[in-house]
Amino acid sequence: MNRKKILLTGAAGFIGANFLKRICLKKDIAENYSFVVLDSLTYAGHFPSIEKDLQENDHLSFVKMDIRESEKISQLFAEESFDGVLHFAAESHVDNSIKDPNLFVATNVMGTLNLLRASQENAKEGFRFLHVSTDEVYGTLGENDPAFCEETPLATNSPYSASKAGSDLLVRSYFHTFGLDTVITRCSNNYGPFQFPEKLIPLMIFRAQKDQELPVYGDGRNIRDWIYVEDHNEGVWAAFTKGKAGEVYNLGGASEKRNIEVVKTLLEKLKKPESLIAYVEDRKGHDWRYAINFSKAERELGWAPTVTFEAGLQKTIDWYIENPSWIEEVEKKTKFNHYK
Ligand SMILES: NC(=O)c1ccc[n+]([C@@H]2O[C@H](COP(=O)([O-])OP(=O)(O)OC[C@H]3O[C@@H](n4cnc5c(N)ncnc54)[C@H](O)[C@@H]3O)[C@@H](O)[C@H]2O)c1
Repeated sequence: MNRKKILLTGAAGFIGANFLKRICLKKDIAENYSFVVLDSLTYAGHFPSIEKDLQENDHLSFVKMDIRESEKISQLFAEESFDGVLHFAAESHVDNSIKDPNLFVATNVMGTLNLLRASQENAKEGFRFLHVSTDEVYGTLGENDPAFCEETPLATNSPYSASKAGSDLLVRSYFHTFGLDTVITRCSNNYGPFQFPEKLIPLMIFRAQKDQELPVYGDGRNIRDWIYVEDHNEGVWAAFTKGKAGEVYNLGGASEKRNIEVVKTLLEKLKKPESLIAYVEDRKGHDWRYAINFSKAERELGWAPTVTFEAGLQKTIDWYIENPSWIEEVEKKTKFNHYK
């Protein structure tokens, strides 16, 4: 059978691993596509999360490679003749970007450029490059501002979001300058299984279970929109298969919550006391509010989120409680302090 061969970057990380499990393994997709997973396995890439899936499915393969290595990337593209790229790989943690912005530019900007250049040099009929981006490229909103839409100007406030905006603009330039078929998705905060406990929800579950203090930035009133990872990934696949070339699609969860609300709900579900909450010095440049207008994706892709925050949070808590060994393994790699 002639399957389309797709390069899937960053699938040892949180969103990519869920994408591999929930999208790549669907029967109709497995019959029509093969996926070459590329990941350099940074601290955030956990190979055991996807090892069994790779072993059990012959339409999946793995290559350990760093997207910063332009020559190796060019060689891979020349050898493999891909039909498309789904680009999830990135440095994704805002706090780390404040400590080491160079790494974020190297991976998120230069790494994406390496993939774009190799794509443009090797693209064949029907080739598409989908770039997974973030609502953080739009900057921050006030309490009553309308939600971000695709036309909202980019106004980044952290080195992380600046590096993602840089990569978005390079993707756009490859569409306009070279005619490469590109699509960009911009999503809100994902949550769900396999998320590294440096981000708010898994960090709080992880620490609350151990009766440790829960560090909350500032007064905890910042607002995020939350999207369950499976909803997000359905949106990415819809954009990849149905989106229009050169377009951007926002993917939101229709679940705006204050951080402190999220933490208190988690404590209630875990039956732990609110006295565990510890307010800590606010993050530098901390965006106040993110909210996403995803009506374009509804209209053009027939996509909308389906999992309520209540249901998604319960599924997430259940997964972390049922998989303590996953947390123990990733805990060995790093210390978890703060969150996105
Ligand atoms: N998590 C969120 O809430 C969220 C929200 C909006 C957008 N995004 C975007 O979604 C994508 C995936 O995010 P995530 O939360 O799964 O991130 P993650 O940090 O959990 O995983 C990133 C993956 O990329 C790999 N990687 C990092 N640098 C690499 C390099 N130089 N070469 C090859 N592989 C490398 C890591 O090993 C890891 O497997 C990112 O592009 C991120 O910017 C995430």
